[in-house]
Amino acid sequence: MIPFSPPRIDDEIINEVVAALKSGWITTGPRTKQFEKEVAAYCGVEKFLAVNSWTAGAEMLLHWFGVQAGDEVIVPAYTYCASANIVIHCGAKPILVDVNEDFTINIESVRNAITSKTKVILPVDVGGLPVNYDALMSMVNEPAIQALFTANTDRQKKLNRILVLNDAAHSFGAFYKGKRVGAACDFTVFSFHAVKNLTTAEGGGICINLPKPYDNTELYNELNTYSLHGQNKDALAKMQKGAWEYDVIDAGYKCNMTDILASIGLIELKRYDSQTLKRRKEIFEAYTTAFSKYDWAITPHYKDAARETSYHLYLLRIKGFDVPKRNDMIQKIFDKDVSVNVHYKPLPLLTAYKIRGYVMEDYPVSKALWENEISLPVFYAMTDDQIQTVIDAIVKSYTETVSA
Ligand SMILES: Cc1ncc(COP(=O)(O)O)c(C=O)c1O
Repeated sequence: MIPFSPPRIDDEIINEVVAALKSGWITTGPRTKQFEKEVAAYCGVEKFLAVNSWTAGAEMLLHWFGVQAGDEVIVPAYTYCASANIVIHCGAKPILVDVNEDFTINIESVRNAITSKTKVILPVDVGGLPVNYDALMSMVNEPAIQALFTANTDRQKKLNRILVLNDAAHSFGAFYKGKRVGAACDFTVFSFHAVKNLTTAEGGGICINLPKPYDNTELYNELNTYSLHGQNKDALAKMQKGAWEYDVIDAGYKCNMTDILASIGLIELKRYDSQTLKRRKEIFEAYTTAFSKYDWAITPHYKDAARETSYHLYLLRIKGFDVPKRNDMIQKIFDKDVSVNVHYKPLPLLTAYKIRGYVMEDYPVSKALWENEISLPVFYAMTDDQIQTVIDAIVKSYTETVSA
């Protein structure tokens, strides 16, 4: 069976994890701090904070900004549940909006959804393709939209506009206008979960990029403390001679990354451009070259003048298919020993969101994208033979489905 997205666990990773274990320091320590520095340099940002998942990091940011009951956060309907679940955890309301044909959030729908209750816009780089960050950043700075913003906390007053928190769970290493993803929005949050391009088993991280009067180094220190219960000294600092005493400056969270996870990340990062991204791009290109020959295949948009994907998910769509046909085709692909997936079942189709009153018909583009989408396997160790097996399985399964 060709797997969908297995992590790359080889001797280099294993040796570094063992070295971390033997170092005598397994929680947040020198390896995590090194990983943070290297990711910040890679993304071209001043400060990057490593955490133990996208979800925990992004939720901490919403709490930090003071998002609470009565507030609204704009989220695309086409995403993984994590993007909106964290809003519900804050007691606030996710305002779902539709997406474009390329799966990115529709900018005009965002504009129409903004009210005096909007505190945050949370765009998602689905599959690794960056959204139109510039359009969102200039929108939140428009005088009329800024005038609508109602600041309820000191942090909100200091920003004095809607916060843009980019869900970049998929887009580590993608490009937007010649720069790596991470530097365009107020906060950019990555996921390093096991199936992601760059994994630390579980993990995530935050590029901190707020405008003045915020100071991003101060903010890094504050969020670092927040990720450790608000304790003003981490375990390593407390271990120093006579330095046991600490304070807790606020009721913080607990989402720090460990050195064991960071050791995987350090190796993954070292070979990310030269090996991981390179191979993923080759796989995308092989798929697109093969499927472009068929008029029933809608290949994903992954590169244009402003953007280049991180080659995370290959989101193939089958022209004219509805859900039963798509599901039938998926069954036939699995019968040929190829694992595929669907990204995503839009939020309004999930029970947790249905019971909150969201209706799929309100998001027609998301509905149409989902109905005929099939995500194909993409992973570093995939061989050329396996790529061909996937292509053959897709073509054959399509023919079988339409002739059934
Ligand atoms: C779009 C999106 N956002 C957020 C997440 C959550 O990431 P994590 O598992 O690191 O919390 C995921 C995970 O798959 C995702 O796909």
